[in-house]
Amino acid sequence: MTQPRKLHIKSFGCQMNVYDAQRMVDALAPEGFVETANADEADLVILNTCHIREKASEKVYSELGRLRVAKDEAAQRGRRMDIAVAGCVAQAEGEEIIRRQPAVDIVVGPQSYHHLPQLLAEAKARGRALETEFPVADKFGFLPQPQPEAIRARGISAFVTVQEGCDKFCTFCVVPYTRGAEVSRPVEKIVDDVKRLADHGVREVTLIGQNVNAYHGDGPDGRAWPLGELLQHLAKIPGIVRLRYSTSHPRDVDDSLIEAHRDLIALMPFVHLPVQSGSDAILSAMNRKHSADDYRRLVDRFRAANPKIAFSSDFIVGFPGESDEDFEATLALVTQIGYAGAYSFKYSPRPGTPAAELQETVSAAVMDERLVRLQELIDSQQSAFNQAAIGTTVEVLFERAARNPGQIVGRTAYLQPAHVMAQPDIIGQVLPVRIDSLERYSLIGALAAPQQRQHAESRREFPQSLQLTTGA
Ligand code: 5AD
Ligand code: SF4
Repeated sequence: MTQPRKLHIKSFGCQMNVYDAQRMVDALAPEGFVETANADEADLVILNTCHIREKASEKVYSELGRLRVAKDEAAQRGRRMDIAVAGCVAQAEGEEIIRRQPAVDIVVGPQSYHHLPQLLAEAKARGRALETEFPVADKFGFLPQPQPEAIRARGISAFVTVQEGCDKFCTFCVVPYTRGAEVSRPVEKIVDDVKRLADHGVREVTLIGQNVNAYHGDGPDGRAWPLGELLQHLAKIPGIVRLRYSTSHPRDVDDSLIEAHRDLIALMPFVHLPVQSGSDAILSAMNRKHSADDYRRLVDRFRAANPKIAFSSDFIVGFPGESDEDFEATLALVTQIGYAGAYSFKYSPRPGTPAAELQETVSAAVMDERLVRLQELIDSQQSAFNQAAIGTTVEVLFERAARNPGQIVGRTAYLQPAHVMAQPDIIGQVLPVRIDSLERYSLIGALAAPQQRQHAESRREFPQSLQLTTGA
């Protein structure tokens, strides 16, 4: 037996990175690596980076500065610490990372995590290892990625990648450049993954992809299946009680997805549907390929299919050319839709994107002011949404013991954490919970009496929350 080596992964950014971190752990496990929460004692530290906004990229370099000190201290004690940069900054900046921070040993793009053991050996032998190539060129000059491996089940809720990359080319966004062209995994591979996860106790699966509803994977019948059809199929897998998907682009919502929301009890009524702006002029400059009214009509179609559906979104304020009227149109859209939560960001020019060529017209002060106003509006909607759960009975999928002794925590249909006092044997079950109060973003309640359980289940009474995302 080789001595276990310690691995520390710090992930930034989206849920795709959370998933990728698990793939890296799995790729390195056969090399004797076990995870540690403490970077200082690790033999290999991986920063799993995000390039979506400038702030996210810059964090990587300050983190690398800290790690260099830890690496030097380890070396003084005769211990080697390898530092790897993975993720979208690795993909976008490649060797530049090593130039800016020579303590980095490995730079690895999202398509190459299965090569981590070889890269580690190469770094040891040659001092450095770098792999950020897309493997095969298509009509855009991008190469399709290797299909991600199935991940080991960890807990009740799991992510499964169904597609990667994006062909939408919103003018502000680096994803088409860092993650490449849109590639969908075949239906059968996804079904195998989900069955395996279900066999290992997973009850909830979130299908993820940068533009998940662009999904068009090869089906067993030789046709390309849309996301709605995939969801219908996955809902039949024994043990899977909840399905989610993220992140969607409004233009790629089709009838199959709307029908899935109408028909599938397992498909949670919570849709992350980024709109970015409520102004048609800005949507057009962003190359979003839809108007604010298209988005309103889409929300109406979802709600007609299932009135319990709640929405979350992403917004960008201060895109070049955004006038006061444009921003007011965003506030008006938010007021009209009524979100359960949303993320909002200040526009950040990303090198290589078309919008980075545009003259920035919104001053930092105005951008700050707009962000505050938008966030206040979204926060008030989110609070109202959470408050509305108090006094109702909601279904909760219990996931694990909470920090407070005796408490078990799960999530509602709307991803709100919900805490109850209960025995751990409820983990993995969906049970009705009477909500008594709200502590910050967590609902606090008690398991409903058995006769109420029947009642709540048949009425599908759900309340709400917020989810992590990137893309679309
Ligand atoms: N500037 C600001 N926000 C951005 N996002 C993506 N690119 C940028 C950028 N250049 C936001 C979008 C997207 C979310 C994941 O990040 O709102 O939906
Ligand atoms: Fe694709 Fe979303 Fe980026 Fe637009 S914002 S290019 S849809 S990942």
